[in-house]
Amino acid sequence: MGPYYEHNFKTQVEKCEPPNQAIKAAMDSLINNGSQVHFGRWLIEGSPYVILFDIGAAAWNLDRWKGDLWNECSIGLPYHDREANDSLIFGSLVAWFFKELTDQLQDKPNVIAHFHEWQAGTGLLLSRSRKIPLATIFTTHATLLGRYLCAGNADFYNNLDKFNIDQEAGERQIYHRYCLERAAVHCAHVFTTVSQITAVEANHMLHRQADVVTPNGLNVRKFSAMHEFQNLHSMNKAKIQEFVRGHFYGHLDFNLEKTLFFFIAGRYEFSNKGADLFLESLSRLNYLLRVHKSDVTVVVFFIMPAKTNNFNVESLKGQAVRKQLWDTTQFVKEKFGKRLYESLLRGEIPDMSKILDRDDFTIMKRAIYATQIVFHPEFLSSTSPLLPMDYEEFVRGCHLGVFPSYYEPWGYTPGECTVMGIPSVTTNLSGFGCFMEEHVSDPSEYGIYIVDRRFRSADESCNQLTQFMFSFCQQSRRQRIIQRNRTERLSDLLDWRYLGRFYMYARHLALSRSFPSKFKMDHLNIAPVSPICNGFFYRRFLFSSRLRLFDQKYMKNDINTTVQKFGVSKFLFFLFLKDIKTFIQ
Ligand code: UDP
Ligand code: G6P
Repeated sequence: MGPYYEHNFKTQVEKCEPPNQAIKAAMDSLINNGSQVHFGRWLIEGSPYVILFDIGAAAWNLDRWKGDLWNECSIGLPYHDREANDSLIFGSLVAWFFKELTDQLQDKPNVIAHFHEWQAGTGLLLSRSRKIPLATIFTTHATLLGRYLCAGNADFYNNLDKFNIDQEAGERQIYHRYCLERAAVHCAHVFTTVSQITAVEANHMLHRQADVVTPNGLNVRKFSAMHEFQNLHSMNKAKIQEFVRGHFYGHLDFNLEKTLFFFIAGRYEFSNKGADLFLESLSRLNYLLRVHKSDVTVVVFFIMPAKTNNFNVESLKGQAVRKQLWDTTQFVKEKFGKRLYESLLRGEIPDMSKILDRDDFTIMKRAIYATQIVFHPEFLSSTSPLLPMDYEEFVRGCHLGVFPSYYEPWGYTPGECTVMGIPSVTTNLSGFGCFMEEHVSDPSEYGIYIVDRRFRSADESCNQLTQFMFSFCQQSRRQRIIQRNRTERLSDLLDWRYLGRFYMYARHLALSRSFPSKFKMDHLNIAPVSPICNGFFYRRFLFSSRLRLFDQKYMKNDINTTVQKFGVSKFLFFLFLKDIKTFIQ
């Protein structure tokens, strides 16, 4: 269920009639009362059904629905916050829809509604305050305050328990949004976060312990030919090389056969995404490559949608090189001026050959030969005249994804790299990084490099990232090929086939809490997981699914029997993990 946008509906949805009579009747009821609701199949993998509500067509209800929100939940929305107002209109339509639907169904079957993020949470809030018989789940992929506080200069993770959250929200003028988010979290039968680190954050920012952690999975595509992803790397790398030839035309003084492609991608949140740390590490990497007289060149891509008027090969090229030269010139000019001034104050005409020192010359040379950086201020598309590749193709053609985020509740990009067999750098502040640290005994062996941004200073993290990249640059082609094979073998860990279980668990839990007489957790035929957010239980889950695959004789029933039979301890699970590792190898 989501908002209706005419253009998206035309291009991405195949309109059809709801196959379910109750859904159709509920929709008709809204339509007959002046709302517009659309139904169809979303043309993405799996073709899910979608019910889309036209927010604009229902906007005339806004004032009345604001009144309802105030009367029912004591939350007031300012008139100028369009996103919050839209969220109320959408939520009111959703709650209304559920009221009609559940009236139709009369408990047969019971309905589970799973809401993601604060923008959708209003529907949950209103459904609960109106006592609509639903089992509800709320998943947060980030917290509003967490994102804001991290984007500022706060030492977020060391001060989680010290923030005055109401005040912080008020100062950022998001108090009403924060109230919507917090109310949805507390009204849900089951509250989930996408990672353990976000569970900790949510506990402090929203004051509720997550019941379950529901990590984000991927639809892992397996090729029939084992090494197909290596071929794809080669093919797509050739396309990137083509772009680089054009981009550096006229000053292509490096060997493309010895050139590695690194990239960062995601929303343009400069420090949250660790672009600041990455840039600084690149300058340190540049220094190391030069002092070690390495013949490797690194071309780095920043794929982040940013404000732009227009761009073409020339303007991009100019930006990357000229800007760097300009900054260096300004820097050296200032230094020069200061020394000249000091000398004149002493009544001396300076010796021009000595006024610039060795460091200045190094900086200037570095500006001329520096690591090449390409800023691509848009997401990629195969129809772009500049770099005509889809994101997937681009990732496959690169050598290393670098995602040194400070704030990253999950982080899809490193996971996507993994399933394509491309090594990546992540951090122990990202949900993905923590997940990998928990499930793989030495992630770096598999091409997942985890920068410690939690217990080290920024400078130390920067050096660690530099070292990861420098070691990567020292690998031979053969070593890179082997590493890609190992990276790709971790794909199964990220497959929805495994991670979907946490969603199923959350849904069963919601049913047992909302309709306790009908659904009991004990009777549910699913693998158990503790409501406590603890990596240990993930292992149990993953282990159970893995074990089924590779050793049926241990696993006649499910992991529960194994736990009872062997009295499995945390230690033993650790051993099992080793088994998984062996299996992967
Ligand atoms: N992405 C994309 N096209 C691009 C670059 C990135 O579609 O050119 C997608 C990428 O596949 C990933 C998402 O953007 O799924 C970024 O998600 P992530 O969780 O890493 O970070 P976010 O930007 O949502 O904070
Ligand atoms: C894949 C291809 C090889 C190619 C290699 C290049 O493995 O199957 O034919 O040599 O990629 O790897 P590199 O890390 O140098 O881009």
